[in-house]
Amino acid sequence: MNQRAKFTYRDFYDVPRMIVLNHRGQKLLLDCKFDDSLDDYPATYRLYILPPEIAENSETSWASMPSKAVRYVGEIPVSHVVSDHTKRAELETSVIDSLLIGPTPARQEGAIMAKYTVITMPGDGIGNQVLPESLRVLKAVGFDAEYIHADIGWDCWCAQGNALPDRTIELLTKHKLGLFGAITSKPNKAAQAELKPELQGKGYVYYSPIVTMRQKFNLDICMRPCAGFAGNALNYIRKKADGGYGELGFDEPKIDTTVFRQGTEGLYAGVEWTNPPENVRAALNSHTRFKAFASVPGPEIAVSCRIITRKAAQRIVTSAFEYAKKRGFKGVTICEKPNVVRETSGMMEEVAKEVAKNYPGIALWSTNIDAQLMWLNKNPEEYNVIVSSNLFGDILSDAFAGLVGGLGFAASGNIGDDVAVFEPTHGSAPKYAELNPPIVNPIAMILSAAMMLDHVGEDEKANRIREAIADVVREGKVRTYDMMRFTGGPKAISQGAASTVQMTDAILEKLK
Ligand code: NAI
Ligand code: MG
Repeated sequence: MNQRAKFTYRDFYDVPRMIVLNHRGQKLLLDCKFDDSLDDYPATYRLYILPPEIAENSETSWASMPSKAVRYVGEIPVSHVVSDHTKRAELETSVIDSLLIGPTPARQEGAIMAKYTVITMPGDGIGNQVLPESLRVLKAVGFDAEYIHADIGWDCWCAQGNALPDRTIELLTKHKLGLFGAITSKPNKAAQAELKPELQGKGYVYYSPIVTMRQKFNLDICMRPCAGFAGNALNYIRKKADGGYGELGFDEPKIDTTVFRQGTEGLYAGVEWTNPPENVRAALNSHTRFKAFASVPGPEIAVSCRIITRKAAQRIVTSAFEYAKKRGFKGVTICEKPNVVRETSGMMEEVAKEVAKNYPGIALWSTNIDAQLMWLNKNPEEYNVIVSSNLFGDILSDAFAGLVGGLGFAASGNIGDDVAVFEPTHGSAPKYAELNPPIVNPIAMILSAAMMLDHVGEDEKANRIREAIADVVREGKVRTYDMMRFTGGPKAISQGAASTVQMTDAILEKLK
């Protein structure tokens, strides 16, 4: 359920190496490097990922294993001697965790204080594959952070009836900065059925932990950049005005759009009913427009409230203008539907007009959501900053992401006054979660980590990461299956696609 590694073999008196199994079932070699001054206690642990045929072959010599590894993960010095066997096993487990995802033991004990503490929440499915890759990149640019693993997602729901455990909330409350992979959500019936038997029928209700997290910490500014990398075969192209075919018949406009989506309100506020209770029904009946529905029996009617508060509207619009100012863009587009959804879209637009007065050099344009989706297929390059309510913003950001490479490239930040959590917009892609080696594109996650760097003011490091990604994409030598338009699956690698790890390796190579 979490990142804890399970030991399958150990013999730490005679063998300075042991094979362990991580949560994905990968065989790892934990190699202990001894230091004379520490007697027979390891001074450094080194971690390698082994191919199963090597790990399972009893004839392979221990000495040759590191040279046969698929990947060298990294090493961690151990600053203290642990002689108690149980404690040492715990330490080694945490060393593996740390090398794969998290903090160094020395840092946990306060021996070295990192500048930042980041709560890492890989979550479910491919979240566990991509999040560790982003940490490798953060490390490569010298981001001075310690990482604390926190659980979130489906396993937490099944075991505890709560997909966002209290410890995770406490850690985020304390450290205020999070990196999140993805979670799996399932419909209510499936959620109930998978709850552990002791908890079934006890009134536990599944809530999406990411929606809960956004609401709990008021992560109301959801920022979703959609910028194309030159050379990406997935980029949007359009026929030229003269309609010509062939090499010169198409152009590839440079898309650099960031969608500011209100993250806590709107239709996702969760205030909804099927068969509304009597008092709600009475309130609805008091609205003249509800007359058309007045005779519909309760169980036959479902109602969702679209809630917009002026304060939240001001915050999202202001963030959009601030961003436009920082990037030197000449306009901000408020995308709503005020001609029909008069009250809520109306308030969004009204607030946008008020806020715009504080930014005299930046124009405010207004579009309707339906027309905007048409325009993004015609002239997407004309929109640099779009601000919208929760559902429309969700739709817009997915639609724009489709023009610049799709889910493998779509990063996001959920930013509140106090806490901020960065995540790829994709989900847990369960069908690829068990593939070994993993094949999904880590770029969306790595770009999310770069957004985290922007957020804490480490712009230079963030830019280096984006430039490294741009270089890899431009060269086109290393491409994950999605970038090659392959169907994902176990064959993707043999067909020539890069694995998740190889993509990160290519990015790391550019950062050297
Ligand atoms: P998904 O985003 O997990 O995957 C859809 C498809 O997109 C995948 O099958 C794959 O073909 C592709 N894809 C996704 N990420 C990719 C990557 N990094 N590289 C290459 N291809 C990638 O959405 P789906 O399948 O609708 O949902 C799966 C689970 O994820 C569900 O339980 C859903 O509720 C959850 N979900 C969670 C989100 C979150 O954690 N924020 C967001 C969206 C869905
Ligand atoms: Mg979405």
